[in-house]
Amino acid sequence: MKPSSREPIHGQWSSRWAFVLAATGSAVGLGNIWKFPYITGENGGGAFVLVYLVCISLIGIPIMMAEILLGRRGRRSPINTMRHLAQEEGRHGAWRYLGWLGILAGVLILSYYSVIAGWALAYLVRTGSGVFTGLTADGVNNIFYSLVADPERLLAWHTLFLTMTMVVVARGVRSGLEQAVRYLMPLLLVLLLVLVGYAMNTGAFQQALGFLFYPDFSKLSPNSVLIAMGHAFFTLSLGMGAIMVYGSYLPRHVSITHATLIIATADTLVALLAGMAIFPIVFANGLAPGAGPGLIFQTLPIAFGRMPGGEFFGAVFFVLLIFAAWTSAISLIEPLVAYMVENLRMTRVRATALAGGVAWFLGLGTIFSFNIWSGDRYKLWGLTFFDLLDYLTVNIMLPLGGLLIVIFTVWVMRRESVMSELGVKDGPLFRIWYLVSRYVTPVAVLLIFLHAIGVLQPLLNP
Ligand code: PFF
Repeated sequence: MKPSSREPIHGQWSSRWAFVLAATGSAVGLGNIWKFPYITGENGGGAFVLVYLVCISLIGIPIMMAEILLGRRGRRSPINTMRHLAQEEGRHGAWRYLGWLGILAGVLILSYYSVIAGWALAYLVRTGSGVFTGLTADGVNNIFYSLVADPERLLAWHTLFLTMTMVVVARGVRSGLEQAVRYLMPLLLVLLLVLVGYAMNTGAFQQALGFLFYPDFSKLSPNSVLIAMGHAFFTLSLGMGAIMVYGSYLPRHVSITHATLIIATADTLVALLAGMAIFPIVFANGLAPGAGPGLIFQTLPIAFGRMPGGEFFGAVFFVLLIFAAWTSAISLIEPLVAYMVENLRMTRVRATALAGGVAWFLGLGTIFSFNIWSGDRYKLWGLTFFDLLDYLTVNIMLPLGGLLIVIFTVWVMRRESVMSELGVKDGPLFRIWYLVSRYVTPVAVLLIFLHAIGVLQPLLNP
């Protein structure tokens, strides 16, 4: 069957740009603004950034092309797409479980993503109202700990963020997703540039650039290499069908290769710009870049409390973080909603309410991880419910999903089907992509995977 005759039942993006914006919205999120700066800080800066860029090129870009390609050819939710494509290629129907794996990962990630995004909402109120002004590091820490120690407050912010997400998703592809990214993404870029503009005048911009771009390989451990690879996955939203489902709404004529290059470049630029906004502020205030996950919630507010106009710039920063998280969260739930509409014949509104309800309920586990379940009694292998969920999804489910997606595309699907969907001839560029996707990408992903489940640990730390 020629795939072009299949139409997506949920509607299509109105243009190539709508798709590029939506996929960039999915990619740019807490991963870029919260996680990338702190893992760069923890892993010594420039050399880590370089490895991360190599990972984006060798793992991220090939897998993203594969995911979009599968989505557009299947034209359905990831489960039905995988089932159709496996049938079309005369392969086993069990490939649909790849779709299930992704949908499950999406709901699990959303359940904690929404809790962390809720912190950003809480911080917007606090920074905007000047709570941090003149506070010492201890004062700022107290604010953080009193927030996370209060399950009721966390629940309220989590509920608010998830409701914002559900409202967009319930409205559908064109009037919900597309409208949201059309306004939020340009605004996000403007806010980021305002912050970088401010950071350039802090007097520590050069120092931050040196930190981000001067590669000192002595600071790089084998572990950092694997962290960089794992992050390439998370930041590009790969391995769970989010990009696949967005690809299923993509019009036929759009070039997958060009779109992928734009999305990956935009995501990388936002991460680097976030670094260029955050580190000068951190250095100018004599704070440490390697503070870990608290960099944004515990270190940065100290700086906002000290600098002139800190309330304004702090508020700008948290609005930026909220927008970024919002456009990512909608893509985490879309695969499940699409599936429920297709298979359970539900309306979109009802499907969104149900899927959101499940994520909301699971979010309680993450909320309690910071307070009533934070004791050792509630830990498994020394990890809280939140740590376990984060570990399971980012280190196991996403790499596994990505590995299977790329294997299906370049080992299971016929080469002609792949070429016809990409709309390319058998030229040198296609051959390079095919070769990298067949050999380099799966081996690299397999390495992250083995690392995550601990098989490589004894080799790396003898
Ligand atoms: N890419 C998002 C971020 O960097 O925050 C996180 C994410 C969104 C991961 C959607 C996976 C996904 F499907």
